[in-house]
Amino acid sequence: MTRQWWKEAVVYQIYPRSFNDSNGDGVGDIRGIIEKLDYLKELGVDVVWLSPVYQSPNDDNGYDISDYRTIMDEFGTMADWEEMLAEMHKRDMKLIMDLVVNHSSDEHDWFKEAKKSKDNPYRDYYIWRPGKGVREPNNWEATFGGSVWEYDETTEEYFLHLFSKKQPDLNWENPKLRQEVYDLMKFWLDKGIDGFRMDVINFISKVDGLPDGENPEGEKYVSGHQYFMNGPRIHEFLQEMNNEVLSHYDIMTVGEMPGVSPEEGKLYTGEERKELNMVFQFEHMDLDTQPGKNKWHLKPLDLRDLKKSLGKWQSELEDGGWNSLYWNNHDQPRIVSRWGEDKEYRVTSAKMLATTLHMMKGTPYIYQGEEIGMTNVRFETIEEYKDIETLNMYKERVLENGENVDDIMTSIYTKGRDNARTPIQWDDTANAGFTEGTPWIKVNPNYKEVNAQKALEDPDSIFHYYKKLIELRKKHEIIVYGSFDMLYEDHPEVFAYIRTLNDETLLVVTNFSGNIHRFKWEHPTNFEEKELLISNYDVKDEDVKEFTLHPWEARVYKLT
Ligand code: NOJ
Repeated sequence: MTRQWWKEAVVYQIYPRSFNDSNGDGVGDIRGIIEKLDYLKELGVDVVWLSPVYQSPNDDNGYDISDYRTIMDEFGTMADWEEMLAEMHKRDMKLIMDLVVNHSSDEHDWFKEAKKSKDNPYRDYYIWRPGKGVREPNNWEATFGGSVWEYDETTEEYFLHLFSKKQPDLNWENPKLRQEVYDLMKFWLDKGIDGFRMDVINFISKVDGLPDGENPEGEKYVSGHQYFMNGPRIHEFLQEMNNEVLSHYDIMTVGEMPGVSPEEGKLYTGEERKELNMVFQFEHMDLDTQPGKNKWHLKPLDLRDLKKSLGKWQSELEDGGWNSLYWNNHDQPRIVSRWGEDKEYRVTSAKMLATTLHMMKGTPYIYQGEEIGMTNVRFETIEEYKDIETLNMYKERVLENGENVDDIMTSIYTKGRDNARTPIQWDDTANAGFTEGTPWIKVNPNYKEVNAQKALEDPDSIFHYYKKLIELRKKHEIIVYGSFDMLYEDHPEVFAYIRTLNDETLLVVTNFSGNIHRFKWEHPTNFEEKELLISNYDVKDEDVKEFTLHPWEARVYKLT
């Protein structure tokens, strides 16, 4: 196992639209980020992952890019961005940018050209097919609803879009397109950035012929994921990218990869394979979804499933691969509302969840607001929601199919992406201190109780707990490099594991419930000394061999 700076780092994700607005237009911006860099330094994070800040018509909040080399007007200028990078580097923080190259915006010049005629030099930058009679070229359903195909009147062909119709998929089979991507990556790397997070990067290779998805029930559109997730040329493309670009810089890379298995995760991240450093897998994010259904079909989490899944990823990537560790991002509901308890035990359970994640083997990611225990939001009406995925789903299921509004709103309250996108709650002034104007999306009304200023002032806050977790990682090598073993696999409410490095053992025990449990040390390893590294309770000098776990308690001991 080699030592790498990105294995020792903690990453903080900024979703710029919702982070901090410096000019009162209601939208977060780059100067707003600069204002808060000392806050991030205080927290102790090493790397910032910045969600897209490129020119975009914002059909999907920046994940639809119309110019890969300029900054979105709402967010500022290239000069602002350069100042931000310099200010981060001055504080010893690194910056990774979002690379969204499975698709572009339909307002990108490449697409505007491609649409002009079938023999336009940019035509092959995208994926075009004739229809099958009056039907689309195949039956795949887009992530944001409807067909993945959109008809173009001028050239009388359809183009493929796995996401919205304003996000046409790029054609990675075309070597010229691949070179364009490598060039734009070099453009940013040469400006001094420290890596990329790659959006749905395991979707870029599609199976030849784009076959229909299986459709036993005769649905209009079905998932075609087996024909584009981890497709036939994906490893070849990533190795080419590595060879042409990544290997020439000292950077970190993380590939967002829905539908990746631990076995494939090992192929993507295996050090000798020269692809990526780590992937964002989604197995654990799907455990509260009914099997075979989309994310809106809810099911309570069974903790045993979570342990099984995370444990498998830990062991599969033990030799040579590397895990990313996350509970939250801009697409997921807030973890304290999802698998913690966001009322009486909000603070305690947020700390417990942080402990469980940060003590595993891998690089931890903190999503903005997680460090102060921000919660899900419940807007009264659908008009208050902004997310294209949520709005399209509501339109299709309530307005077109006549499904029950309350059921759909429950799904939105539980899983909608806007839960993660309400403005960061900086203080208890109007709009939580996020903007002096009208925020583009409403602030969560709990901002008087939950805000960064309050958290900074309270030594027992979630913020200070995260800070301590990050400090521990810097002090104890075992947290970064120790091997992982799950304990208590079958316990429905207790999550416990050990990490081992040389003659040290780290014991992590967390309670995913409001119930009281007894923990018993039943492992063959012997130890003489124990040191309590962190806990969300005031733990007395207790016997590690057997102790009582309080509601949502977390403890970490170092045993020697
Ligand atoms: C994944 C991103 O995280 C999400 O926000 C976006 O909608 C899709 N990819 C499409 O780019």
